Amino acid sequence: MKLGLRNNRKTEEIRAKVRETHLHVSDFIYPLFIEEGTNIKKEIVSMPGIFRYSLDQINDELKEVVDLGIKSVLLFGIPLLKDAEGSESWNDEGIIQQAIRYIKKEYPQLQVIADVCFCEYTNHGHCGVLCGQDVDNDLTLINTRKQVLAQAKAGVDMVAPSGMMDFVVREIRDELDKNGFQHIPIMGYSVKYASAYYGPFRDAADSTPSFGDRRTYQMDAANRNEAIKEAQADVDEGADILMVKPALSYLDIIRDLKNNFDLPIAAYNVSGEYAMIKAAGKNGWIDEQKVMMETLLSIKRAGADIIITYFAKEAAKQLKKGSKN
Ligand code: PBG
Ligand code: ZN
Repeated sequence: MKLGLRNNRKTEEIRAKVRETHLHVSDFIYPLFIEEGTNIKKEIVSMPGIFRYSLDQINDELKEVVDLGIKSVLLFGIPLLKDAEGSESWNDEGIIQQAIRYIKKEYPQLQVIADVCFCEYTNHGHCGVLCGQDVDNDLTLINTRKQVLAQAKAGVDMVAPSGMMDFVVREIRDELDKNGFQHIPIMGYSVKYASAYYGPFRDAADSTPSFGDRRTYQMDAANRNEAIKEAQADVDEGADILMVKPALSYLDIIRDLKNNFDLPIAAYNVSGEYAMIKAAGKNGWIDEQKVMMETLLSIKRAGADIIITYFAKEAAKQLKKGSKN
């Protein structure tokens, strides 16, 4: 009898030697929802284990993140006041600016990334300034400059524009450079699809559009060639990291970007992807911890160098356990 490929699967020792993909805790970025106010620690119904915090309640969460070895957080702000343009997003005393200062003071080693968008700050829930029923690209870019400058002044380590406006990376790069923030990198949400997988996030961040949808700015799920064009535009405009979002229904796109560009690739394992695993796990229909690790591994294997995931803490715990075996 002659065995072929099974020889390399016979024991855990040999399997570990020939394993092609490895997850590390440093791969993960953990999203945090920060709400203006006091005494808030509210679990998001469709995202068990994920909470909205006011700043006075967030310390335990930050401490756990740091103790688990997670290096980066991605901040989303929920302001008290919303208006047509989302002006709280560039208020120096706005919730995200406060959060950046607080986290950098308490945990200087934690990399703080800020989401750059307006949907949590506008009273209509769209990702920029409305002109009729649509978002105006140029007017939104003007406000985007104000928002990133406020975040930079507060001490942010990296910015991540998620609104899918054309030329947003170019505008941000210019604004940062002009003001002495040449060192702040930009992680572009280069390839962001209009996706039903964002449902739970919109509850978490209070950012559901009050009318219509985001299909005039986010990409059509059917398009693959267009992903290359979007990524190329971000490269040309000076992005430092390219992101694909969501991750799981778009693993082919992650691989396309990996093969076509030499910048680091990030993938956003979004709220709906988290919610599905949590729901099936709760029902006992799947082994939640195993499915979680297999899912994250698949995103990395597809070509992601960086994974933004609500599972970051749980996955970090699994990796710790594994390393003790
Ligand atoms: C908003 C934004 C969204 C997400 C991140 N930033 C939602 C949207 O576009 O409606 C989704 C994240 C998730 O679902 O986990 N610009
Ligand atoms: Zn938005």
